[in-house]
Amino acid sequence: MLKMEKLQKVYRTEMVETYALRDFNLTVNEGEFVAVTGPSGSGKTTFLTIAGLLEAFSGGSYRLDGIDVSRMGDGERSAVRNRKIGFIFQAFNLIPDLNVLDNIEVPLRYRGYGSAERRKRAADALARVGLSARGRHYPAELSGGQQQRVAIARALAGEPRLLLADEPTGNLDSAMARSVMELLEELHRDGATIVMVTHDPQLAARAQRNVHVIDGQVVDLAAELTA
Ligand SMILES: Nc1ncnc2c1ncn2[C@@H]1O[C@H](COP(=O)(O)OP(=O)(O)O)[C@@H](O)[C@H]1O
Ligand SMILES: [Mg+2]
Repeated sequence: MLKMEKLQKVYRTEMVETYALRDFNLTVNEGEFVAVTGPSGSGKTTFLTIAGLLEAFSGGSYRLDGIDVSRMGDGERSAVRNRKIGFIFQAFNLIPDLNVLDNIEVPLRYRGYGSAERRKRAADALARVGLSARGRHYPAELSGGQQQRVAIARALAGEPRLLLADEPTGNLDSAMARSVMELLEELHRDGATIVMVTHDPQLAARAQRNVHVIDGQVVDLAAELTA
């Protein structure tokens, strides 16, 4: 589904060049659940934002469903992103002055659904994360775990085939983290491809495959250990 070869990402300021990704190689197949681990600053978030077509890259190639991303125009990129990809961030990124259902509807607007369809999808997604009773609440009235469930509902309301999660449990206590993980596992069983960045080795161990990133590169831990 996702194939990156020798991907480069350079951040340039007047003073310095930072290679956030250098020769980053990764293939994720349809239906996989991949956990990405690595030290802070190693390029994990950069990788996810490029994978999710939120940011451009500086070199190398990235194919999503066989399509060369560097050949997509801006319009096509956002259309593909809206249609195929859902995001879950560590900081939840809910809009504080919208209630829960309205928050979930935001990406559905970009997808062009009419208001009746949006309302139905938002309510269904909220039910999936077990928060039907909270639709009229505002984010500040919910616990961190509940806010992350709302953020997951927002990501899954559009039924994305690819779910990108950046430390989705980073701000949660371990019981909440486990229940968020269970939700992701359920979405995976239903067919979503999931790429999750995490610092939590117990959660990473539950994914089908672990990818370790150091200094902007994917490293093969097994090969390193036997070398
Ligand atoms: N917008 C930016 N401008 C300049 N440098 C950046 C920017 N975003 C990330 N970086 C740098 O790129 C590297 C990788 O960052 P990041 O992908 O956020 O790592 P991680 O998510 O693994 O902690 C870091 O050195 C970081 O400082
Ligand atoms: Mg990060």
